[in-house]
Formats: sequence, structure tokens, C-alpha cells
Amino acid sequence: MSTLVVVGAQWGDEGKGKVVDALASRADLVARFAGGNNAGHTLVVGSKKIVTHLVPSGCAYPGTLCVLGAGMVIDPEVFRQEITALQKSGMLLGSELRVSLDAHVIFPFHRWLDGLREDQHGATKIGTTRRGIGPAYEAKAARRGIRVRDLLIPERLRARLELNAGPVNAEFERCGGEDRLDVDAELARATGWVVWLRPLLCDAGSLVDEAIRGGKRVLIEGAQGALLDLDHGTYPFVTSSTTLAGGACSGLGIGPTAIDGVWGITKAYATRVGAGPFPTRLDGPLGDALRRAGDEFGATTGRPRDCGWLDLPALRYAARRNGLTGLCVTKLDVLAKMPEVSICRSYADGVTPGTDELELALPILERVSGWGDPILAQRIAEARRLEDLPAPARAYLDIISEETGVPIALVSVGPGRDQTIFLSEAF
Ligand code: IMP
Repeated sequence: MSTLVVVGAQWGDEGKGKVVDALASRADLVARFAGGNNAGHTLVVGSKKIVTHLVPSGCAYPGTLCVLGAGMVIDPEVFRQEITALQKSGMLLGSELRVSLDAHVIFPFHRWLDGLREDQHGATKIGTTRRGIGPAYEAKAARRGIRVRDLLIPERLRARLELNAGPVNAEFERCGGEDRLDVDAELARATGWVVWLRPLLCDAGSLVDEAIRGGKRVLIEGAQGALLDLDHGTYPFVTSSTTLAGGACSGLGIGPTAIDGVWGITKAYATRVGAGPFPTRLDGPLGDALRRAGDEFGATTGRPRDCGWLDLPALRYAARRNGLTGLCVTKLDVLAKMPEVSICRSYADGVTPGTDELELALPILERVSGWGDPILAQRIAEARRLEDLPAPARAYLDIISEETGVPIALVSVGPGRDQTIFLSEAF
């Protein structure tokens, strides 16, 4: 296997940063194919905690090429800050970063629009990250998006900005927003971006394709999770890009035949941030306890995440929609801190996760035996092989694998790099 796609199999925040970091030590190239700085991937390297929003989680390994693909939307201001912070931590000091000329750019007016719309929506709001992701993808679909390559040619950039100024400023006026898209100001801003951005730009599709053809180990990193996918998630409470493995092809510019394996990441329980259906959501003290145990606060926005038991119908759905060949189960140690553990194998009403009815789904919860022992968490956190895991933890992994029909490829038992149990070879 030389090309592996790794995607979130729930509602995002499954621990992709940690898993991709663990796998990246074996990769030559790590590429992201969709989303923007709505994502927040946390890496723990020694005593340092690093959160990346745009740069692929392979950045912690010198010499590993990190690529931002055409399917992404990039806020240059955030990107610049992130590169600077990573360099201060000793990362990305060489020529290890490449950006697709075809990726779309998030300007401040996209951010302002995102926030304004969320404020206007009131009770029906999506709960977006307010980072301008939706407005940037919307402009792309409307064929007035601004690509990275447009920044390089001032006359073309002016024309693109002018194309946006009409509808954008009309919306600001209509909604009573004070901001305005000022073409000259944005042109000046973009001139500053180009100075440091230009050396990073490339035809990312060809770069990744050549790496694959050259037999390099290529790791493709998704963002968010299956249930937030624009087409197959809990629409309209979804992000505005493809979060499924299929999006790796269009987002990078490679064919499906180039992909050898797809691993999906799931927490040992479930979380969701933002509005929308979440059948196993726990209200009250158990939900609070899970949030505290797992430190479940958004890496991007700091928002508290809703927490609940593992939802196997949703995970099965994610496994099918992604064609998963392996599952990575994270935060098993966190689950062990709970006084009791339950799991959902089915919904009472047989609802299908991708449909509107999910809002009303009644999860059938089953208490899992053997959990709730205070020393279990420590034994799990110290395990380095499957055999080291206590019996209830192994039985739990068996349930996940049997119910989804996907073998467990990796288990994460803590945030540290060494707290990873590999059960399959990634490459
Ligand atoms: P947007 O992607 O900022 O437009 O937000 C749309 C929905 O996706 C909201 O419910 C967000 O909370 C959710 N979302 C976006 N990115 C992430 C992520 O990285 N983790 C979890 N939820 C996310």
C-alpha cells in the first residue's frame, strides 16, 4: 500500500491530528484535500501541544512534504500565522510546504459574511466556525471565487474582486452589516500575501500524482467527518465541502485507482459541535463528565462539544460511504474514566443516518459490561500492544469491528505519540 486516505468517521474532532502525526512518520508526502481553517488538528510532540488548522498534520517530521490541495479554501492571514508558529516550534524550516495554485482564497469579507449570516439566522443557525468557509465555497460554486493563482496577476485579481463586490456589498447593506468589500484595500492586502506565498505555490495535482507514480508513501488527510459531508452528512447542518474519502480524488486531482486504502477515525464515544442531529447526545451529568474526561472543547473555536455514546449506525454509515478498509479508534482511555459505558447498535425506528429523520432517531442504548473500574483508564493508557489492553477494552473494539465490518487498524490510548497501538501496516 502506498497511498492511504485518512478521514473522520463521525462529526469531526475524532483525533485526526494525532493519528495523521503517528502515520506521517512513515510517509514521504502528506496532503490535505478539502476544508480550511474550520479544522483544528491537535498534535502532541514531546511536551509541546501544537494545533494546526491548514497545514497538514505531517508537519512535525522534517523532510515530509506537506501539500494543501486544490479542494481547500485558504485564509492567507491564518496560514501565515500558522507557519510562523510552527517555525518557532522548529517545524517547516525547509522547503516542506506546497500550496495548490487552484485552491480558493478566503478574504476577510468571507469571514464577515459568515458571522453576519450566523447572527441573522438566530434559532436556525448552523453554528459554523465563522471562518468564512461557507461563503468562500459558495463563491467557488457561483464561479466568482478567487483562486490562489488569481493573486499573482493584479489585473485579474481586480476583476475578480469587482465581480464579488456587487453581491457581497448588497448583502452587507441588506442585512445591516457595517463592513464593505473595498476592492483597492483587498488588492493591497493581497499584494502583501503574494510576497511570502509565491515560493510555496505549485501544481499540487501533478506533484501528488508524480509522488504516487514514483512509489512514494502518500498520506492523504481529510478534515471534519463523514456526518458533516455536504452531500451525505446531516444536511443542512454540515460543512460546505466533501469530507468523505471520495473527495480526496477531486480535491487533489488524482484518480480513484491511485488510492490503496482508506482508514476512518472514530472516537471510542461521539461528539458534535454546532447545531444538527446527534442521536446519542448525553444531556446532564454524564455528558458533562464525558466532556471533562475528554477535554471536549473545540480546537478552533473553543466551543464546548456535545458528547454522547458511540453511535454504531452512524459509524456503519460512515464506513460504507467512505469504503473504509481500516478503523482507528481514539480516546479509549477517556471512555475508561466514565463511571459507566453504553453503546448504540441500532435506532428503535430503523432510521438511516444520512436522512432528515435522524433528528428524531431513538437510539437503543446497551450498557457495556466491565467498564467503570477506576484503574482501567491507567491500564489502557499504558498499553502498547493489543494484548496489553484489559479485556473490556478488547471486547469493546471487537463490537466496533463486528458491527461495522471493518477491521481495527490502530488504537490510540492517549495523546502522546507513543500511546498508539498499530494493528495494521499503513504503508
Ligand atoms: P463551517 O465548516 O465553519 O461552515 O461549519 C459548518 C458546521 O461544521 C458547523 O456545525 C461546525 O461546527 C462544523 N465543523 C466545521 N469544522 C469542524 C471541525 O473541524 N470539527 C468539528 N466540527 C466542525
